[in-house]
Amino acid sequence: MLSGKTILIGITGGIAAYKICELIRMYKRQNANVRVICTPNALNFVTKLTLQNLSQNEVGIDEFNIPDYKPEHISYADEADIMLIAPTTANTIGKIANGICDNLLTSVVCAFKKPILIAPAMNCNMWQNAAVKENIAKLQKYGYEIIDPEAGFLACGTEGVGRLCSLDKIFDRTVEVLNSKKKLSGKKIVITAGGTIEDIDPVRYISNYSSGKMGIALADCAFEQGADVVLISTVHVKRNYKIVKVKSALDMQKAVNKEFETADCVIMAAAVADYRVKNISEQKMKKTSDDEISIQLVKNPDILKEISSKKTIQTVVGFCAESENLLENAKEKILKKGCDYLIANDISRSDIGFSSDYNEVTILNQKGIVKKLERSDKYSIAKEILEVIYGQERNNEDNRELCTSGIC
Ligand SMILES: Cc1cc2nc3c(=O)[nH]c(=O)nc-3n(C[C@H](O)[C@H](O)[C@H](O)COP(=O)(O)O)c2cc1C
Repeated sequence: MLSGKTILIGITGGIAAYKICELIRMYKRQNANVRVICTPNALNFVTKLTLQNLSQNEVGIDEFNIPDYKPEHISYADEADIMLIAPTTANTIGKIANGICDNLLTSVVCAFKKPILIAPAMNCNMWQNAAVKENIAKLQKYGYEIIDPEAGFLACGTEGVGRLCSLDKIFDRTVEVLNSKKKLSGKKIVITAGGTIEDIDPVRYISNYSSGKMGIALADCAFEQGADVVLISTVHVKRNYKIVKVKSALDMQKAVNKEFETADCVIMAAAVADYRVKNISEQKMKKTSDDEISIQLVKNPDILKEISSKKTIQTVVGFCAESENLLENAKEKILKKGCDYLIANDISRSDIGFSSDYNEVTILNQKGIVKKLERSDKYSIAKEILEVIYGQERNNEDNRELCTSGIC
């Protein structure tokens, strides 16, 4: 099952370290090449000799013990197909979440470009600790997969959530990740982000408070899951996927239309101005003696409605920011726009929505509410939204297959 694969196991200083001896044997039975790195503290729980014999490889501990020209942390990172850290202590979780590289294991993690699975194990109070929780959320945001600990009787004598999850579960997940392509690979997902900017004159404009954070979180998350991402953004960002920088609603319309035909999914998370200035002044407008002036506005195109009306295979998702009657307005809006999903959020709250790192949304489809997502960081919200859309995308694909075989 695993021949030709190299699994790099990182062991940290937790009591569950002894269990990893058996896990190494499970991988070896399936012909994997197993390499092991220990933190110095892990050696209080398992011996180098045991791990060396079970893995049939040298065990890495000292970052500065360099056998040839290549530093160990680079060699380990280059050679393995996947990295598993089990058990992962609260201490090492904190270090990885903050980019600290103070031993061989944490340096390898920093240099590792392939999937990393993290299986935490610790006392239940440590697992509940606010800093640990925040570090775990950070790791998820950065694309590490967390294999959650289980509830049960803990080595420290208490009962609760914190026990290393079963070796079978870790083993199965490693095999799945090694043998699977990423969930969204092959899908082109176009996402818009930020508030549009409508010029009044060369120095003044009309805009809104959208920070673009939700759209960027969606783009990061889709990219992480293997999608071919195009982010059309009014906000400046640097990423490894395609970014089209736009300013006004008209720019955004042009950019969306250009990408639409070849897209599998378009998510309109941007806050597009409903109106723009009719006559943009070429020169800076001068202050006059008048107490009042008027600027005439004209309606901007409704990009969401436009693309919803011409979609064929695309899944179209809109966002709806409301300051009152959130759900009634959202239900009305999705019918009017004709999109597949509408993500409704309440902008009257200061702890979520515009500019905040957090959000709390309700996902609707044409039939009504699909899912309510509790307040969480925008990356986790993005992950859940994609989970819902991806399910639908798969259904669309199944339907398409049935249709082409004459069963629709
Ligand atoms: C007997 C014993 C058991 C421990 N078990 C755990 C554990 O299961 N999880 C954990 O996060 N820390 C545990 N610790 C604390 C860690 O060993 C400690 O935080 C250490 O600094 C971790 O270092 P490392 O992350 O570099 O391996 C334990 C300590 C002792 C003495």
